[in-house]
Amino acid sequence: MTRKVIIDTDPGVDDAMAIFFALCSPELDVIGLTTVFGNVHTDLATTNALRLLEIAGRSDIPVAQGADAPLVRPYGGPVPYVHGEDGQGNVPLPPPSSKAIETQAAVFIVEQIMRAPGEITLVPLGPLTNIALALRLEPRIAHNVREVVLMGGNALCPGNATPAAEANIHNDPEAADLVFGAPWQVTMVGLDVTHRVNMTRAHLERYAQVDKPMAQHIARITPFYRDFFEKTYHCDGIYVHDSSAVAYVIDPSLFKVERWPVRVDTSSGVSRGKTWPGLGDPLPPPWQGRPLVNVCVEVDGERLIEMEYERVCQSSP
Ligand code: BDR
Ligand code: CA
Repeated sequence: MTRKVIIDTDPGVDDAMAIFFALCSPELDVIGLTTVFGNVHTDLATTNALRLLEIAGRSDIPVAQGADAPLVRPYGGPVPYVHGEDGQGNVPLPPPSSKAIETQAAVFIVEQIMRAPGEITLVPLGPLTNIALALRLEPRIAHNVREVVLMGGNALCPGNATPAAEANIHNDPEAADLVFGAPWQVTMVGLDVTHRVNMTRAHLERYAQVDKPMAQHIARITPFYRDFFEKTYHCDGIYVHDSSAVAYVIDPSLFKVERWPVRVDTSSGVSRGKTWPGLGDPLPPPWQGRPLVNVCVEVDGERLIEMEYERVCQSSP
């Protein structure tokens, strides 16, 4: 049985890889992409989402544009030094010939979930603004979604946007605290695991050898992104963020999870955006009564990397 997923995304080099991974996985039926600010402004995120679907030959999938700013504070701006000015590693790409649908992302999410109760999995790969807006619009989506599997957060390790916080959560901590507090099953695929999925130069070079549009696009967009990782983390290649969330939806046995309530620091202090798991018994008041989140704490990185390569490079088309 295939699982229906909506991917909420700010493409983004690793978002592109994750979208292709999902599209090439027979277990998943991608019923829509919704876009959000984050790695790039929302307009460009939408353009990139449309471009990616064209490369994949899947322009039949609707793209719904979403929020262009966080719930409360102003948007901190794009990160061209990570993903390139164009969000796709500074490679020349033609404008898409397809268009986004008229429906706003949050409305699209609500309509799809309420139309197919218990069937849809949300896979947010960017700031959680659209998901929080959808919850505000129709709180019953929490009881009608299948689950939420998100890339974001850092439970027991440092952040990447700041020493305290991971980028997606740091971009909209208020939205994230709402999403972690809603009565639905959330799985947090954060830096605790994604920094342990290391796609090396040798792994990445294999994509260039494959004569398929999706593999070729990955080969073109990753060198810029890889250079950022190698300079910043002194590693070989990249850490796999967004594709790790897709991998969890396909095969959760790749991960070990702990079940903790999660609060997000929404203060203005140095820890803004930090995801704090509630540890200890009894729980301190801020964590009391909050739902248990599946927090990924261990991962079989090699198996995940092979799975992504096989799906994108060896499956048809
Ligand atoms: C997350 O931030 C973005 O740069 C990536 O696309 C990923 O979603 C990693 O912290
Ligand atoms: Ca992303």
